[in-house]
Amino acid sequence: MPRFLLMSIYGLLGLVTEIGGSRLKPVLSGPSKAYLGSIVQFHCRVPGWSSPLTYELHKDAGDLIGAETGVTVTFHLPVTEGSEGKYYCRVTAEGQTSSVVQFHAVTPVVGASLSSSPDPPVLYEGEKLALRCLVRKGTHLSFTWYHDKQEVNASSDLYRLSGDALTVNAASERHSGTYSCTAQNQMEVNPRFSSSRNLFVTVKKHISTPKLSFTVFSNGSSLMANISCRSARGSPPVTFILLVDGLEMDVQRVDSLESWSIQPVSIGLDMGAAQCKVQADTQTLLSDPVRLHVVPVGGAVRVNVTYLYDADSVAAAAQLKCIPGRGTFPTFSWSLNHSSLPPEGAAYMLIHHGQILYLTDISSGHYRCRVRDSFNESSIWVESEDILIQKRDLAAMPMEVIALVFCGFLSVVIIGGSYFMFWYTKRKNNSGEHCSDRKFCPLISSCVFGRFSCCSFSFCQRMRAKSEAILMNEPAEISL
Ligand SMILES: *[C@@H]1O[C@H](CO)[C@@H](O)[C@H](O)[C@H]1NC(C)=O
Repeated sequence: MPRFLLMSIYGLLGLVTEIGGSRLKPVLSGPSKAYLGSIVQFHCRVPGWSSPLTYELHKDAGDLIGAETGVTVTFHLPVTEGSEGKYYCRVTAEGQTSSVVQFHAVTPVVGASLSSSPDPPVLYEGEKLALRCLVRKGTHLSFTWYHDKQEVNASSDLYRLSGDALTVNAASERHSGTYSCTAQNQMEVNPRFSSSRNLFVTVKKHISTPKLSFTVFSNGSSLMANISCRSARGSPPVTFILLVDGLEMDVQRVDSLESWSIQPVSIGLDMGAAQCKVQADTQTLLSDPVRLHVVPVGGAVRVNVTYLYDADSVAAAAQLKCIPGRGTFPTFSWSLNHSSLPPEGAAYMLIHHGQILYLTDISSGHYRCRVRDSFNESSIWVESEDILIQKRDLAAMPMEVIALVFCGFLSVVIIGGSYFMFWYTKRKNNSGEHCSDRKFCPLISSCVFGRFSCCSFSFCQRMRAKSEAILMNEPAEISL
């Protein structure tokens, strides 16, 4: 009996200790972050316990920060750099400690600025750009970037954002512009900001190989060449250097991609090979050479005619190109039946500075071109011969060619076969059809088209229909 009682008391005691132990587990609450210089409050209590207890606030390895007595106690803590750490509380004379509150002392942000690589921020396409948002002071920061006043989206594949850095691995022209950043303390209440000044980033384009060309003009007494040099792309400013036979003739630093230089030239005299060199920061490029040789117009003037056919093989248009025997700066003029053609007309176009006369609607007649030096209005015109342009004849041309090739092939087969048959029959009974040499188609039905004899009747029928249609100037839809 006493043994049973003893056991019961032990059991009861154990129960009480257990209840008491779990009831006396304190809870610490407090902020996880606060600015340096501010005062924070930590509260400690045992949930459900309404009698005053003495609580101790400890930090990290166990440093005692303070002790207070009450149902719920409050510890006031001025925040210094040393305040950072792990806090917990416990009930004095009880073993149980609270869970831990990790506390950070936050330095308010001040003095944001931008650093760039390269510095100064001028780079070429394809190069790397790295910007960093620096602060004079401040901890627990987040950064926001702006490009041309637009917030840079973290998921944009134009930029890479990481911590305080914005990087662009291969810059392009669109990365040029104004950048700024804002650093912010990561605080839910009362966040502090600091913004940098704007930084202007220049992404330059590489210069393309320059092209040199020249025109000539007379300044009254002598002939001058206007030699111009031009790069199709690139970022100015650039330096253009004009070289003639390797000698520097002119140097110009320009804020554009083109420069020109006036140099005297003599007609008919080769003044040498002109080249231009373009220089920009890291690049130097040289143009192809162009001979400074002004050849006056002379020699026989030819006209090259090209017909353009439509789907029905009807000559729809004609192109007349005027080619003088020589001359570097020719000017052209055209005439039809000895009256000159004005620069514009309903049925033609003048292209390539008048060198090409393009007849959009062929009017038959005698065409002629004449050429003289463009820089000398008193130079004499050199004329071509009359060129007869006719609409109707041309249309049949391709058909004749087709007929010729097709008939040639058929004739070889048929003549060969027929000759054999003829020879064979002749040998056999010594009697047979006799054909004239040009219309020699003894075995199958034949017909004659123009100068060609054809040995397929239906082919000839179609050829004939087509040729009639062409002669009557009607569109014909015949496929062979
Ligand atoms: C020379 O040519 C350039 C174009 O290539 C032109 O802009 C400029 O006005 C010309 N200069 C003269 C004096 O004709």
